[in-house]
Amino acid sequence: PESVGILAIDIYFPPTCIQQEALEAHDGASKGKYTIGLGQDCMAFCTEVEDVISMSLTVVTSLLEKYEIDPTKIGRLEVGSETVIDKSKSIKTFLMQIFEECGNTDIEGVDSTNACYGGTAALFNCVNWVESSSWDGRYGLVVCTDSAVYAEGPARPTGGAAAIAMLVGPNAPIAFESKFRGSHMSHAYDFYKPNLASEYPVVDGKLSQTCYLMALDLCYKRFYEKFEKLQGRPFSISDADYFVFHSPYNKLVQKSFARLFFNDFLRNASYIDEGAKEKLTPFSGLSNDESYQSRDLEKASQQVAKPLYDSMVQPSTLLPKQVGNMYTASLYAAFASLLHNKHTSLAGKRVVMFSYGSGLTATIFSLKLQDGQHPFNLLNIAKLMNVSEKLKLRHEFPPEKLVDAMKLMEQRYGAKDFVTSKDSSLLLPDTYYLTKVDSMYRRFYSRK
Ligand code: ACO
Repeated sequence: PESVGILAIDIYFPPTCIQQEALEAHDGASKGKYTIGLGQDCMAFCTEVEDVISMSLTVVTSLLEKYEIDPTKIGRLEVGSETVIDKSKSIKTFLMQIFEECGNTDIEGVDSTNACYGGTAALFNCVNWVESSSWDGRYGLVVCTDSAVYAEGPARPTGGAAAIAMLVGPNAPIAFESKFRGSHMSHAYDFYKPNLASEYPVVDGKLSQTCYLMALDLCYKRFYEKFEKLQGRPFSISDADYFVFHSPYNKLVQKSFARLFFNDFLRNASYIDEGAKEKLTPFSGLSNDESYQSRDLEKASQQVAKPLYDSMVQPSTLLPKQVGNMYTASLYAAFASLLHNKHTSLAGKRVVMFSYGSGLTATIFSLKLQDGQHPFNLLNIAKLMNVSEKLKLRHEFPPEKLVDAMKLMEQRYGAKDFVTSKDSSLLLPDTYYLTKVDSMYRRFYSRK
């Protein structure tokens, strides 16, 4: 099969959200810390009637219905998530309800978990399957679903929630350049979830930022080395049209792109002008470790990379800034933002993606875009995702409502024998929602 990749994408995020400006004031943080300091505008959160299973049921049925895909045509279903509801039963098995109804139980794949990287692992599994000798000609379907919640404190504003579904197959408008991939995986305690009685992670914020940037450097190095070996010429930022990053919060994305620019400067990339060279030269003697700690380098590289950031990265920042960190869905929501903003001019473009999951696992990979054929074309994908409308139809709440929701979820996490309010009034039509958890911990959902 040729041009294996993503044929269609849909995204769901909860209609309930809070403004970061209001959260700043509520938390007693200095004005601008969350909005300018972290670069975030708004944060979505699940109320007691939504969870990662309901969101994934919603987004999968939505994609299948919008593209009129017969559920028997799905041969592989892979889920990426780091939100643990059950230590054994996969989220994938909940989604099987949709397929069993149509008599299709012949579907490979289970859940993949490693922090925010699970979605990428799931996507690679599907792409590899379609490219392999065990492919049976049917579609792969990837689901990334997470509710990112943090205990009260400095990490809380970096939460968010969403689910993404991606249909995978040949002749895709969003094709993988599978030869160009660079990974870095190692053992780190930057963000992890060892306390099985709590939904919240243990997080070393500063370490997680450094781990993220170190992983970015190493993935980039392996990526450009592979590119050079195969293409016989060096790779720099200017060989791509867009860069899309896993987006815990926007400031880290700004720093990441600046870091790639600094890497290119150290490698004497030809697009870097004299002005930029002058500003970065004072930092060329720093050791690697020193370079992660240097605030001056951070500032200088962000400044010189700014014009390229605006054209190559900014179009992918809409949903991560508006919805927050969506963990496994975060990178793909950033990509969805690019499709939303630039769908009329993306044919022929190369998009480089950086996926990071704490703990840690990371990969840079490359996508090549083409118009595609109806219904799997860039224009139609952007139209059917309907991002503007989904953002517009949200309901803003005061921070107290988030605090109340978090408290209730803390009580309900791992609990049995309760019914929810079953209040679906804020949800859009066709959204799935949780109605009860019975005495055997079995979960029940309805569709609005
Ligand atoms: N106006 C403007 N900017 C401000 C203000 C203000 N009033 N106050 C602070 N800032 C800036 C700071 O200078 C800093 O920016 P800089 O890094 O460019 O200097 C930024 O706001 C954040 O301030 P910090 O003091 O660094 O924030 P804090 O340490 O309280 O928390 C953190 C930030 C560590 C990101 C925290 O939210 C966290 O732990 N989040 C979860 C971990 C995470 O997302 N890690 C990313 C990779 S792992 C993953 O994806 C989960």
